Amino acid sequence: MRITVLNGPNLNLLGTREPDQYGTATLAEVESLVRVEADHLGIELEWRQSNHEGALIDAIHELPGRADALLLNAAGYTHTSVAIRDALAAVRIPFVEVHLSNVFAREEFRHRSLMADLAIGVIAGFGPRSYLLGLRALHASRADV
Ligand code: DQA
Repeated sequence: MRITVLNGPNLNLLGTREPDQYGTATLAEVESLVRVEADHLGIELEWRQSNHEGALIDAIHELPGRADALLLNAAGYTHTSVAIRDALAAVRIPFVEVHLSNVFAREEFRHRSLMADLAIGVIAGFGPRSYLLGLRALHASRADV
């Protein structure tokens, strides 16, 4: 199984960015954690991050034929991007939406996701473990189970 993990804006600053919200692990450390689990599950993993909406959309357009599923933390764009939602609807790749923080326990504007209804499911609030749980969820929902 091939899974792409796509990380949105400001996640490159993990480690120093609002540690009270996001913890102290860097994005590279989260990636290492996820790669260990991916190896364990026999998943081929691609890991990407961009601060740019268009680059995230291009990455989503590239998914068909390249990945079987997507683990998506669109970060701030989760709450604002009609264009990322449209890209997800266009390629129809199965995906799980993940967030490090519990977005529902934060500001009201974070309670709304413009993509969650297209996702298989949403995992939020477990820090870097949200990614691990998301990976396991995608693996468990693969077609051949
Ligand atoms: C986030 C939550 C978003 O509301 C925020 O804009 C982020 C990170 C998370 O992983 O908790 O950048 O997606």
